[in-house]
Amino acid sequence: MSSDSPSKKQCRVAVLISGSGTNLQALIDAAARDDADFTLSAVISNKPEAYGLTRATEAGIPAAVVDHRDFPNRDTFDRALIEEIDRHNPDLVVLAGFMRILTPEFVRHYSGRLLNIHPSLLPKYQGLHTHQRALEAGDSEHGVTVHFVTEELDGGPAIVQAVVPIEAGDTAEQLAKRVQVQEHVIYPLAVSWFARGRLRMVEDRSELDGELLPRCGKQLAAAD
Ligand code: GAR
Repeated sequence: MSSDSPSKKQCRVAVLISGSGTNLQALIDAAARDDADFTLSAVISNKPEAYGLTRATEAGIPAAVVDHRDFPNRDTFDRALIEEIDRHNPDLVVLAGFMRILTPEFVRHYSGRLLNIHPSLLPKYQGLHTHQRALEAGDSEHGVTVHFVTEELDGGPAIVQAVVPIEAGDTAEQLAKRVQVQEHVIYPLAVSWFARGRLRMVEDRSELDGELLPRCGKQLAAAD
């Protein structure tokens, strides 16, 4: 996002995926709008079979695989990943269902320009099986969080959360589907805030339009 050019599509975004890529698709669709303020410069997967790679190719976005199984350990994999990402010169790196734990070196390299989406109302339910865990806990609401990534797993400053009511008789699959609808709303929103220079990480908090956000980020009720 350089300030020396008037172009609207200045913010270059690299998206990291491991699977289906429905969040990637939401970002592709948002970037294709006339008023878009970001462009997707690369999609990189750690899994060659990830369907998101097909989505990228169909949208004309450079797609690459850095397969973690080709590396002896996390450090060497993350270094290769950094090399591939940086070839595309992104302003922002977005984890969209990228299911690898990242090394501190990787996180520090992209500090303040690395976002993740996690399917829970963080700090609740870090890690896996979030929908099932929310149901088992008897929660009345669940949701999704977009946050800056720090060295703490699923622990960086929250940017925005969408709250999804849990309905009687919900299964984990039904709940996951309703949460995903909201994922596809809030991830493009957060990326667009960043692209417009409205969003930044300030120490352990997120700042939007010059104001520190609450620790849980900006809370949005689920949009229909
Ligand atoms: C999304 O639901 C995302 O929230 C989750 O993976 C899914 C990827 O779906 N991410 C995590 O659990 C990260 N801890 P997608 O490939 O269809 O976007």
